[in-house]
Formats: sequence, C-alpha cells, structure tokens
Amino acid sequence: MGAADMTQQSGRIWVMGGRPLNGTAAIPAAKNSVLPLLAAALLCRGPVRLRAVPRLSDVECSLGLLRGAGCAAYWQGADIVVAGMPSNSTLPGETAAQMRASILFCAPLLARLGRAETSLPGGCNIGARPIDLHLEGLARMGAKELDAVAGKLVLAAPGGLHGADITLRFPSVGATETLLLAAVCARGTTVLRGAAREPEISDLTEFLNRCGGRIEGRRGLSGCDFSPLPDRIFASTLACAVAAAGGRVELTGCPPALYAPVLEILEQMGCTVERGADRAEVARFGRLYGAGRVFTGVYPGLATDAAPLLAAAMLCAEGESSIEDVIFERRFGCAEGFERLGGRVKRAGRVLSVGPLPESGLHGAALTAPDLRGGAALVVAALSARGKSLVEETRHID
Ligand code: EPU
Repeated sequence: MGAADMTQQSGRIWVMGGRPLNGTAAIPAAKNSVLPLLAAALLCRGPVRLRAVPRLSDVECSLGLLRGAGCAAYWQGADIVVAGMPSNSTLPGETAAQMRASILFCAPLLARLGRAETSLPGGCNIGARPIDLHLEGLARMGAKELDAVAGKLVLAAPGGLHGADITLRFPSVGATETLLLAAVCARGTTVLRGAAREPEISDLTEFLNRCGGRIEGRRGLSGCDFSPLPDRIFASTLACAVAAAGGRVELTGCPPALYAPVLEILEQMGCTVERGADRAEVARFGRLYGAGRVFTGVYPGLATDAAPLLAAAMLCAEGESSIEDVIFERRFGCAEGFERLGGRVKRAGRVLSVGPLPESGLHGAALTAPDLRGGAALVVAALSARGKSLVEETRHID
C-alpha cells in the first residue's frame, strides 16, 4: 500500500499519519484458521503442509508447541510442514502460557497419547476467557482432569476418547474446535449441538475431511496439502484503515462475503465498496458519517475482532456512533489511546460511544497497544491523525 508512512522497531511502531492510503494488498491466510490447523496436524500420520502462512508470533508459538510434543515442524519458504507423530504429552509450559490457542493442542494429544498437560492459556486481555466448555465437552468424551499445580492443566483418557452427544450453551469457536479435534479420532460418533459456525470452523472440518476424518475407527489421519482460508479480520483491518485515512485500496485474495458486515457498515458511513469474487476495492474520498448503533455477534454477524477496528473508523466520522461487543467484556482497551489521539469516546461496560470528529481532527500521540485488535485499531486511528504517533507494546500486534 502506498502513502502511509510506518516504521517498525522491536516493540514499537512509528506512524506518520494524515495521508490517504492507496494501492493493493494481498490478504494472507487467517491466523485463527492456521492455529487450529497446526493443532490438527498432531492427529496426522502423514506430513501436513499448510500453504502461504504468515509469520506471526502465535504461529511461531504453535510451532514451538508441536516441537515440544515431539513432531518436526518447520518453514519451507512461506509454507509450514509438520511431520511425525507426537511422542510427548506435556506441552512446553512457557510457550503454552503465551497464547490462548494453546488449549487447542490438548485434544489431539489426548486422542493420540491418552494424556495432555499444559499451562493454562494466556492471550489477549479482552475479557474473561474460561475454558469450561472445552473441558465439559472433553469430559463427556471420556477425559478426566487430574490434580495439578496451580496454573497447570492435566487431562487423561487412558481408555481413549469415545463419541458423545454434546450441546454447547454458547457457540464458542475454541470449544467447537477442541471437540472437533477430539471427535475425529474418538471411537464412535459425536454429535455437537450449538456449535460455532465461523468460517475458520469450516476450514478445520474441510482439513479434517481431506485427511480422511470421516472414516470411522481410523487410528490416525493422513496428512494433506492445504491452503488455509484468507484472514477476514486482516481484510477488515485494512478496509477500516481506508475508511479512517481516506484513499482507495484493493484487497485481493479474500471473498468480501467473509467480512460483509464490516463492508456494509463502512458503506453506510460513506465509503464505496466494489466487490468481486475474491477481491474488494474500498475507497473513501468524501465525508465519513456516523454509523449509528452497531452490535457484534457470532458469525455471520459482525465479528468481535472487527469491533475496535470499526471504532477507529468511527472516530473519524462527522456524526455519532456506538458499538457494543456482546462476546468479550473488555474489547475496547483501545479507548484510552483513542482519547490521546483527540477522539471523543466514552466507554460504558461493553459499549463504546464515539462522538463526532473534532473540527481540528485527530493528532499524533504516544500510544500503547492493549491487545491485538485494540493495538491494530490504534495504528488505524494513528494513520488518520495529523503528525507522528508512536505505538508501543506491539508484541500484541506481531
Ligand atoms: N467462553 C466460555 N467458556 C469457554 C470458551 C469460551 O465461557 O470454554 C466464552 C468466552 O468467555 C467468550 C465467548 O465464549 O465470552 C467467545 O469465546 P470463543 O471460545 O468463541 O473465543 P476463542 O476461541 O477464545 C476465537 C478467536 C478470537 C475471537 C473469538 C470470537 C482464535 C485463536 N481466537 O477465540 O480471536 O475473538 O474466537 O470469534 O481463534 C483475535 O484473533 O484477536 C482473537 C481474540
């Protein structure tokens, strides 16, 4: 993309804002698809190749978990190859504690080795992130939680996992993934009711089916060569950046239907969106209007991850907007940074109210990334602000 001026040093991003964005950006594979796919590789006897994976810190962390479990996991150009069966049921604690998605590696270890030990998962501080739905489901399939020191989780299924009829009281993305991973190698049939239906879940089921997962009673899945789906949140990030800073950007390699709610809200705010089969062109040359009241929801609703990014675009609008995240209670940790940039925001519980852009516009400021999407939202807002901003703690964004 052109015009924006950003430099990155370790842990910091400098942004020279106030210039429109122009150009073309290819959307990479989705982080939230790649992580469960890497966990699924633990179930496979044959090698797994994931195509064109972005080098993100959570991806490196996942490779560390796979190696800790005894698999070979390495980069081949932009692809990741995972080979060999797991031999160690204890995940490296420090690596596991760094990211929420480490919990996804437990079900495959349980299925393959009858035991899984991990540190309780960390991840972005965007609200309470319990794992009760993962554990309750696994318990229904025959897993037992053993006594463990504080901060550790030890699960065992000495007799193997068996199929079960499970109803989730909330369509948790992670719990659905855990239970799919457990079910595919369990004895018998599992019925999962109230499951999440995010595109990343469809990507995982497609991968498992490609590896022979429909075939009952198979001891291990074959591997496969797989291209994970494109990152709808990354595409949403760039679309919101164009809305905030102005300009015209073509986003290629991602069907706009995957992030339709974001594009529709941006259109209502005054952006133009031209859609193709797997591309969208987002432009904003004129005024930006308030969005009114907006809510997140489970797919196909507005993604919770897109909420702070849309809020960054709302900061630049002439009218009022409000956005509520119904999934996570601390989604708008970026509100303080928005204020430092001169934005008019008020946070009340899960709702962020955004007032009209001040006449003087936004100005550069020193900012701290509170979490991944909140940090990205600060970069988006800084792109639209006059002058220089410094964003620190960018490990969340990496
Ligand atoms: N929940 C429970 N119990 C559980 C699991 C979840 O109560 O056992 C609740 C959570 O507290 C939360 C809600 O269910 O209120 C949604 O959580 P979910 O399990 O769906 O989210 P997740 O699997 O932890 C994934 C993404 C998140 C994304 C959410 C929602 C990955 C690695 N993470 O998290 O992505 O926000 O789904 O779509 O896939 C991000 O990429 O920045 C990110 C946070």
